[in-house]
Amino acid sequence: MKRNLNLLYFSATDTTAKVIKSIAKGFNEDAKEYNITLPENRIKSLNFKKNDIVIIEVPVYAGRVPGFLSEYFSAKIHGNNTYAVFIVVYGNRAYDDALLELKDIFEGNSFIGVAGGAFIGEHSYTEKIAAGRPNEGDLDIAYKFGWDISKKINSIDIFSKRLKVKGNYPYRKGMVYEPVMIDTDENCINCGICSMHCPMGAINKTDNKSIDIFKCIRCCSCIKRCPVNAKDINYDLHKIFLKEFINTYSAVRLEPELFIV
Ligand SMILES: Cc1cc2nc3c(=O)[nH]c(=O)nc-3n(C[C@H](O)[C@H](O)[C@H](O)COP(=O)(O)O)c2cc1C
Repeated sequence: MKRNLNLLYFSATDTTAKVIKSIAKGFNEDAKEYNITLPENRIKSLNFKKNDIVIIEVPVYAGRVPGFLSEYFSAKIHGNNTYAVFIVVYGNRAYDDALLELKDIFEGNSFIGVAGGAFIGEHSYTEKIAAGRPNEGDLDIAYKFGWDISKKINSIDIFSKRLKVKGNYPYRKGMVYEPVMIDTDENCINCGICSMHCPMGAINKTDNKSIDIFKCIRCCSCIKRCPVNAKDINYDLHKIFLKEFINTYSAVRLEPELFIV
């Protein structure tokens, strides 16, 4: 049966987007893209069919699928015995239970998992952890993984197997959002890049210094994209945490982990 390849992904600082595109290249087929990073792209429900295959990819936040995405997926994305590939991208600390949670959410919505993977991306908080990742080697692994999955989907033994991925129950406690201000300094030129890319629509489009702290998920898109480095998280506890975090995780090198039925 001819299958239609679909890519469904959220990527605030673009690392996740790179991995999913390399996996898709390995399939060597045209793919329909659903980039759900911006809020206006998470309004409609999507119903996938039996002859679709969907690669679903999210970044890891506090060892979990970002909370607003798990709610969105459960409410608005439905399958019909649709084959799915689950991918998480994490910042070199750990992916904990995020991959298992992603699989559980989608298998609960009538998708059938055929493969899963955890890749490493430069940490949203700092370029000192996993700098430049996914790098060429990671993307090569992603490409070959896509190729292997596409072959597997056409093989007969897929019907009798169930996908297993790493993770534990109960899931790790996820993000607890204290309302924290992203600071904007006087260098801000109100260019609109941050507000245009904000996944939560939290930055005022006419006054880019004004951020709704109750909407902000601290994905760091605005900080990383700012052309004049006007945005940062400046409060003391965060600075102390980040220093220790860099000490612990900058020298570690983790590699992608792949699972297939
Ligand atoms: C709020 C938040 C929480 C995060 N939690 C984790 C984590 O638990 N483990 C980890 O290794 N990386 C964590 N990261 C890092 C991201 O998972 C990683 O940088 C990822 O590549 C970002 O994907 P993106 O570029 O597609 O936004 C976190 C990042 C943010 C913004």
